[in-house]
Amino acid sequence: MEFYLDSADLNVIEHFNRLIPLAGVTTNPTIVAKQELRLNQLLPRLRELLGPEAIIHAQLVSQEESSMIKEGMALAQCDPNLVIKVPVTETGLRVIRALKSRQQRVLGTAVYSASQGLMAALAGADYVAPYVNRIDTLPGDGVATVASLQDVLEAQQLPCKILAASFKSSAQAMKVIEAGVAAITLPADVAYQMLNHPAVPGALEQFAEDWQHRFGQSLSYT
Ligand code: E4P
Repeated sequence: MEFYLDSADLNVIEHFNRLIPLAGVTTNPTIVAKQELRLNQLLPRLRELLGPEAIIHAQLVSQEESSMIKEGMALAQCDPNLVIKVPVTETGLRVIRALKSRQQRVLGTAVYSASQGLMAALAGADYVAPYVNRIDTLPGDGVATVASLQDVLEAQQLPCKILAASFKSSAQAMKVIEAGVAAITLPADVAYQMLNHPAVPGALEQFAEDWQHRFGQSLSYT
């Protein structure tokens, strides 16, 4: 599976990329606006950090069709391995089709229902990003929405990957991974939740204590 960080924080990305090889990063205007750099300045820094294979997903900020297409093509010039995030609306579907006809890779974003995700896939999106936590807080069922979309894409054999997004807990993330999504993006706090468990420090302390009680400061190989 592809594992992304939903972040534009260079320090956080560098740190986490040492733990597991990230597929890349996803950003949106809110995430980028928390940093100093604008997207055209940020993309080269992310690329330098992540290497040539990583995929960077970056979202359009324009709202009118021709401006969105122009922005998408301009962003594609800034990075060789970019996926352009387009909100799945009527305008967005036209933009997805236009960018695909120009050989650009596209992710349909701001997806709140399986049917909306299906429309993005039918328009030709390479990825579609259902917003799990935001659906939960509507209220709705984010995991069920992802599972339904996954079933539909598989049944219809559509070449579109689910990149599940918007998470507040590792439990939410694990449930969509169980559903078989191809890709997931997590904010840093949830990515660390995936790793850390409160029982681990105690277990490690006990191992150290038992060893030292028997062997003192000797190492296992001395
Ligand atoms: C990614 O495509 C989305 O923009 C992002 O995951 C939304 O996350 P949020 O609901 O935590 O803002």
